[in-house]
Amino acid sequence: MAMTRPVIAGNWKMHHDAAAARAFFAELLPELPAGADLTLAVFPPALSFAAAADAVGARPDVLLGVQNIHWEASGAFTGELSAPMAAAAGARLALVGHSERRQLFGETSRQTALKVRAALDAGLAPLLCVGETLEQREAGAAEQVVREQLAAVYDGLSPEGAARLLIAYEPVWAIGTGRTAEPSDAAGMHRSIRRFLEQRCGGEIAGATPVLYGGSVKPDNARDLLSAGDVDGVLVGGASLNAATFVEIARAAS
Ligand code: PGA
Repeated sequence: MAMTRPVIAGNWKMHHDAAAARAFFAELLPELPAGADLTLAVFPPALSFAAAADAVGARPDVLLGVQNIHWEASGAFTGELSAPMAAAAGARLALVGHSERRQLFGETSRQTALKVRAALDAGLAPLLCVGETLEQREAGAAEQVVREQLAAVYDGLSPEGAARLLIAYEPVWAIGTGRTAEPSDAAGMHRSIRRFLEQRCGGEIAGATPVLYGGSVKPDNARDLLSAGDVDGVLVGGASLNAATFVEIARAAS
């Protein structure tokens, strides 16, 4: 079990323009459990980021992140956004390697590894997403696939860098499908991830790295998932779009 406070993260994907981002935080912030021992993180689309940052202001319990970054700091990469730009805009975190980036936009494990390094160089904490497809799970290869995705990133990473990562285990078959992994399945994979970290980085980093579960997390399954062994938080897609629903999930952690 990691010795971290729970992380409740919301990935808005391509939802919520600037006005919707402002409205979301206006509803969310007064409702957040006071003095709750948890970290809330929200990943708005880049075009809504400034509005979100403005709405959140100086609240130390709410962190903002970007959903994707390029691995170069600047250059001729039309349409891309860099980690230093995200940091300058107030981002503290960067999602890296989300399965939609890997599957729909052809992101390779090598690119994911480069993005993790770019995030670290810019002072952002990478939230690295890993997870197997249904086909891979049915073939009994889930743990192997996740270990390979982790190895691609942790190979050659300095201990200082490794200490700043967060991980989200998101089985691809559970994302946006309404199908959630059983808490026992999540616990099994989280244990395997923790073992990987112990072997690569030692017990201290393994124990301090937050490992989140993601995939159809909702208010009615959040508590069970958050109580599963080695689950340190949740990464929520669809159910993070509504402030009241997201707060309910945060309450499940406190
Ligand atoms: P979901 O998405 O909660 O809508 O399944 C999770 C994610 O993709 O991070």
